[in-house]
Amino acid sequence: MKDNSSKLIVFLLISFVFLNHLLVSSQLDYRFYDDSCPNLTRIVRYGVWMAVSNDTRMAASLLRLHFHDCFVNGCDGSLLLDDTSSFKGEKNALPNMNSVRGYEVIDDIKAVLERVCPSVVSCTDIVTLAAREAVYLAGGPFWPIPLGRRDGTTASESEANRLPSPLEPLENIIAKFTSKGLDVKDVVVLSGAHTFGLARCMMFKHRLFNFDGSGNPDPELDVMLRQNLQSVCPNQDDSNDKLAPLDTYTISRFDNVYYRNLVNKLGLLQSDQALMKHNTTAPLVVSYSRYPYLFNRDFGASMVKLANTGVLTGQNGEIRKNCRVVN
Ligand code: HEM
Ligand SMILES: *[C@@H]1O[C@H](CO)[C@@H](O)[C@H](O)[C@H]1NC(C)=O
Ligand SMILES: *[C@@H]1O[C@H](CO)[C@@H](O)[C@H](O)[C@H]1NC(C)=O
Ligand SMILES: *[C@@H]1O[C@H](CO)[C@@H](O)[C@H](O)[C@H]1NC(C)=O
Repeated sequence: MKDNSSKLIVFLLISFVFLNHLLVSSQLDYRFYDDSCPNLTRIVRYGVWMAVSNDTRMAASLLRLHFHDCFVNGCDGSLLLDDTSSFKGEKNALPNMNSVRGYEVIDDIKAVLERVCPSVVSCTDIVTLAAREAVYLAGGPFWPIPLGRRDGTTASESEANRLPSPLEPLENIIAKFTSKGLDVKDVVVLSGAHTFGLARCMMFKHRLFNFDGSGNPDPELDVMLRQNLQSVCPNQDDSNDKLAPLDTYTISRFDNVYYRNLVNKLGLLQSDQALMKHNTTAPLVVSYSRYPYLFNRDFGASMVKLANTGVLTGQNGEIRKNCRVVN
């Protein structure tokens, strides 16, 4: 009798440990790499710091890289895959081509990690951590992020072409976020990423001269800012290399000035300024413009949601050796 019950206890213990392992290994975990790659965070932090010391804009570029990875078939590193003769990736989709930056930074960090803990850390987790470190380095919030995403083996140029465009109505943009399990608040909070980084003239030029065929500029754009932008982006010039800051006041700092700009008609993209025109989003913009603490807190929470969309875990996907090619 006594013997049987201790057997039962041992059996229960073993099955508990086993089941627990199965459950945990199919989910993301804050301590996922603690044993397998204990220096991961330090290595990513250093790689991002090096890149941003050389090029301040890289902080913004790394955050956007993460968004464009996660918004197309989930956070799976698909954006990092190069085109080959038989494989079409996402890098040349319209929203990414001549626009997304930072691939080399991820390659460099991955190269270090392959020396220290080979075939352990996924490329998409590197991108996730790099985005978090980049925001923090630029003066923004820090948030803990669960890890254990795995890399996908496919990519979708057509899905990447459906990334939100600054020219489409806010309703469409909200619908795209909702379809990923994100909500209106996430749209407003994550748009706060446009507190740093640059945009090409082609993304906002229609607001400067002949808005919606009216013959006049966009009335929702501050006159002084418009005049400055008109000199950066002449009407007849279609070159791809003229850039303007998304946040004119604190160009490379991650703060809540983006929202203060929107309140003052100083949003660069039409889709940014649109957040002030809708009664579901405007009150949030106003409150983030007043309370930096609130924005910092909500930004971290929305980033965790974004980073959890459509992830591959457990036995799905793979750990790529080179972020640019499927193993
Ligand atoms: C809400 C819908 C969004 C639209 C329509 C949008 C659109 C754009 C556009 C047009 C640019 C300029 C690209 C260029 O000219 O090359 C840009 C830049 C940027 N976006 Fe967004 N974006 C959106 C959401 C987001 C989100 C959710 C994030 C991150 C959480 C983000 C982060 C950034 C950053 C940091 C930059 C500057 C990148 C750099 O300087 O390299 N955006 N975005
Ligand atoms: C982590 O980095 C520290 C400092 O560079 C080093 O002393 C330590 O050996 C590393 N640990 C592992 C497990 O690689
Ligand atoms: C430094 O940044 C410039 C762009 O500003 C880039 O062309 C160059 O490759 C970067 N160098 C390193 C070592 O990352
Ligand atoms: C928001 O705007 C819509 C249409 O413009 C209107 O029907 C609705 O009552 C407004 N809601 C609030 C809370 O003001």
